[in-house]
Amino acid sequence: MIRTILTYPNPALKKKSLPVNIITDSTRELIQDMAETMYAAPGIGLAAVQIGVHQRVILIDVSGKNEPPDLIVAINPVIVHSEGETFEEEGCLSVLDYAANVKRHARVVVKGLDRDGVERTWEAEDLLAVAFQHEIDHLDGILFVDHLSPLKRELFKRKARKASEEKR
Ligand code: NI
Repeated sequence: MIRTILTYPNPALKKKSLPVNIITDSTRELIQDMAETMYAAPGIGLAAVQIGVHQRVILIDVSGKNEPPDLIVAINPVIVHSEGETFEEEGCLSVLDYAANVKRHARVVVKGLDRDGVERTWEAEDLLAVAFQHEIDHLDGILFVDHLSPLKRELFKRKARKASEEKR
C-alpha cells in the first residue's frame, strides 16, 4: 500500500527512530509499503520515519529507472567506517521543491540486518554512500537541510514558510 510521505516541517520527522528488535509480519508489511511508496514517488531512498513509523528501517535503490531494480533493505543500519569527502546535490521526498549540495563522506561501510534478519555489511561509495548517510540521518531526526550553513538554512526556511503560506 502506498503511504503518505510526511513533509517538512512535520515534527514527526525530527523524532528519533527506535531499533527493530524482532522482524515480524508487520515489519515485512512495513517494508512492502515503503518499497511501493518509494518507487511510486519516485525516490532513491526512504526511511520508515518518513511515513510516520519510528523504526530504524531504510530502503535504498540507486539503480536508476532504466536499470532493473536493486533494492537494499537495511534494518538498524549503523555506519561503522567512513572516509573521503563528497559534495553533491541532494533532495528528499520529505523536503518539497528544494535541493542543495551537502558535504558527505565519499565511502562508507554500513552494518545492519537485511529483511530476513541476516547480518549484512554494505560497502558503498558515491551516490550509494550518500544515500546511506542521508537515510540513516532520517532515523536520528536529521534532514539534509540541517547540514546547510546557517545562512543557506535560513533561506530554505524562508522559502518553505512562503510556500506553505501560498498553499493556504
Ligand atoms: Ni530524505
